[in-house]
This record gives sequence, structure tokens and C-alpha cells, in this order.
Amino acid sequence: MAVDILLGLQWGDEGKGKIVDVLAPQYQVVARFQGGPNAGHTLEFDGIKHVLHQIPSGIFHSKIKNIIGNGVVLDPVIFKKEIDALGKYNVDYKKNLFLSKKTQIIIPTHRLLDAAYEKSKGENKIGSTLKGIGPTYQDKIARQGLRVGDILSPNFQSKYNKLVQSHKTILEFYNFEYDLTELEKDFFAAINFLKGINLVDSEYMINGFIQEKVTILAEGAQGSLLDVDFGSYPFVTSSNTMAAGACTGLGIAPRHIGKVYGIFKAYCTRVGGGPFPTELNNEEGETLRKVGNEYGSTTGRPRRCGWIDLPALKYAIMLNGVTHLLMMKADVLNSFKEIKVCTHYKLKNGQKVDILSYDVMEEEIEPVYEVLKGWNCSLEGISSFDELPSALSEYINYLENSLKVPVYVVSVGPDRTQTIIKNKVLA
Ligand code: GDP
Ligand code: IMO
Ligand code: MG
Repeated sequence: MAVDILLGLQWGDEGKGKIVDVLAPQYQVVARFQGGPNAGHTLEFDGIKHVLHQIPSGIFHSKIKNIIGNGVVLDPVIFKKEIDALGKYNVDYKKNLFLSKKTQIIIPTHRLLDAAYEKSKGENKIGSTLKGIGPTYQDKIARQGLRVGDILSPNFQSKYNKLVQSHKTILEFYNFEYDLTELEKDFFAAINFLKGINLVDSEYMINGFIQEKVTILAEGAQGSLLDVDFGSYPFVTSSNTMAAGACTGLGIAPRHIGKVYGIFKAYCTRVGGGPFPTELNNEEGETLRKVGNEYGSTTGRPRRCGWIDLPALKYAIMLNGVTHLLMMKADVLNSFKEIKVCTHYKLKNGQKVDILSYDVMEEEIEPVYEVLKGWNCSLEGISSFDELPSALSEYINYLENSLKVPVYVVSVGPDRTQTIIKNKVLA
């Protein structure tokens, strides 16, 4: 059975958590393949809002196995808190949650390093979530990281001490003051807790499932424009957020990939620093933030808001091989009489382009907009594509024609039930 992938096509926070939860009943396994506690995936049902950071968004379905893959960087302290928060919701994590022994561990000094690096960048800071993501991936690539399987080894403490020592040298270089005592206490308590989790060779588990025709959904974190290779570098995260990341982050051969669900907001947001061509620093941007409740699920920071950016979406669709589009937060545009769509970028020399080449991404570009009619009405109570107001159908048609991929889902609210699926099924 092929593995389907769901990922964000913008700068993250597209609504991945909600949609994984909605699609989960069609799958037997949900797996995270990259990122870590920088992610904040929100799920809403039965009047309760849950925010998951590292645990896959299939966890509330009792029949679904959830896997944290080798490509993830895991903070044991945050992980323990997440599990504790699930306590009152009847989630059987002993039965349904599996953690790869090859997952890299975020240790307290990774978080300190993140803060030290950001501080040293001054105005050019990335706007990191300060969860230690970059430094942990750095150690992974430098072949000196700690992995989950290491916690079972008698050498764990000495491996930890060696890594901390190397971090202390760097922290000293940055003149960064810290106190590790409390942080280490929490860390080692969480490491003990981790020993009681199902620690597995997830690549064998997943490939076994593929042979047995078990259905698997890979859940992306962040978004394509935050990808370390193709995003708005250096204002990116430190992993491959693309479909290809699911192959390396779970140990799946490319030939086993099936559908690629690309999810995007009907507009666009970004949290943290870096270019954002369609950003609205005006009343319209304020409205998007207010109506869309655009505040970070992980850090609470206000998200920057702007119009939808087609060149960026086309780029993400190309890189991921998106087969199905899912449009989120259409309801946030309900009050707009007009909706702008960025179709091109105007370069300094006057040339109009619709690509995100290296040169274009390095330049100060000006968005070129086409103006479409807003639907300017509530979407409440609508349950099928046929009932959508004509201006919203036209917006969807316009996007489908430009992006050359069909839209299968329109989301009209944060709750599980506020999801309109084309013909009620995802073909
Ligand atoms: P993720 O990181 O991609 O999972 O997205 P986040 O959870 O960080 O951010 C998406 C936010 O939008 C969350 O607060 C969701 O509850 C909310 N949300 C998701 N879909 C919709 C929708 O269709 N309409 C509205 N108004 N909110 C939505
Ligand atoms: P989800 O999965 C939105 C952003 C940060 C920062 C940059 C680098 O919820 O969509 P990092 O902590 O990775 O070093 O930060 O990436 N960022 C996100 N923005 N959603 C996320 O995850 C993000 N994870 C990281 O704001 O600009
Ligand atoms: Mg989020």
C-alpha cells in the first residue's frame, strides 16, 4: 500500500493538525517525519482545542497507530508534558504511540545554543521558536547527536556529558549566561519517562506495514517555504519539510509514495523573520489576524498576514508533486468584498516573473495582484461544494486553473466538522 503525505505549502500553520485529524479515520497509521517541538498542530472537536507539538495528529483515534520517525528531533521534556496533557482524554499511548530509536534528542544546551545564536544575529535573527531545532540538526549532521536508542545504553551519561561539554565551549564563546541545574533535572526525569515508551526501529515497522497493505499517512510539519533547501533561506527551519523528507524521515522508498496532499490557507501567514512579498501591514492584515486568530500555536507570537501568493504555491506544488489541494480558513475571508491574488513578482528592472529562483528570492520584489470578487457572506451550514457561494467557487476555479491541481477540501472553521470535502470523499 502506498504511503500518502500531507504537508503545508506555505510558511507553516496552514491547518495540518486539523486535516490530519479529519483524514485519520481513512488511515491505520499516522507518522511524523521531520521537525520537532517547533511545530504546533491544532485539533478541535467536541468543543475542546488540543495543540500537539511532537505527537502525530492521529493520536485521538483509538484504532490508529502513531509513529514518531527518525527524521524528527524530539525534546523529551516537552514530549512528557504532551503525554501528561493527553491523560484525561483516554488516549492509550502505550498501545498507539511508537518512537523511533533513531530519532535525535534535543538536550537543554541545544535550546540554549538556539537562543545564543539568535541573540548574536541581532536584527537579522531568524525568529526561531527557540526549541533547539537548528542546533540539534546541526549535531545530527556533524555525527555527534544523541539518539533515542542511546538512552538504553550504559554509556548514555558519558555521551551526554561529552556533547554538553562541546556546547559549553560554544556558549562561552557567545558570552551566553545560563544555569543548567533545573533544566537537567527535568531532562533526566523525562529521559526516564522515555524508557517506558514503545521504542522501535520504525523503518522496519513502516515497511512491514507497507507489505501488509496497512494504510499510512505521513504528517508534515512547518511548510514548504521553510524547507532548509528550497525555502526563504536563511529564514527557514533546519529540516526538509518537503515530500522527499518523508522518505528519509521514515525510511520509505520513493516508489511507495502515493497521494501528496498540499494544504494552504485561502490567504497567507508567516511567523518569524524573513521575506513575505504579499504581507499586509495595514487594516486588511489586521483583519486577517483578528478573524483568523493568527497567533502562533507554539510561541503565541502574532503571525504576519497577507494575500495568497501563487508563484510560491506553484513552486511548492512542483517540489512536492502535490496531487490534491486542500484550502483552509476560507471563512476568514468572509468579510472581504475583494480578494487579491498575487500572480507574479515585479523585479527592480521592471520584469515580471512567477518563479522563486535564487536571484528572485534575493531581490526586493513587488507583488503583482489580480483582484477577485469576495463572497462576502457567512459559510455556516454549508456541507457540500455545490452549496458554496458563487464567488468562492470562482475563487477555487481560479486557483485550480492557475495551480493545475484540483482542490478537494475547503475548510470553513477550526472544528473537525467544519470541513467540506468534494463529493464527500477524497478520491
Ligand atoms: P498547523 O501547524 O498547520 O497544524 O496549523 P496551526 O494549528 O498552527 O494553525 C492553524 C490554526 O487555524 C489553528 O488555530 C486551527 O484551529 C485554525 N483553523 C484550522 N482550519 C481552520 C478554518 O478552516 N477556519 C478557521 N477559522 N480556523 C481554522
Ligand atoms: P507548524 O508545524 C510556522 C518558523 C519559526 C522561524 C523559523 C525557524 O506548526 O506549521 P525554528 O524553531 O525551526 O528554528 O524556527 O521557522 N517555524 C514555524 N512557523 N509553523 C511552524 O510549524 C514552524 N516551525 C518553525 O517561526 O521563523
Ligand atoms: Mg502550527
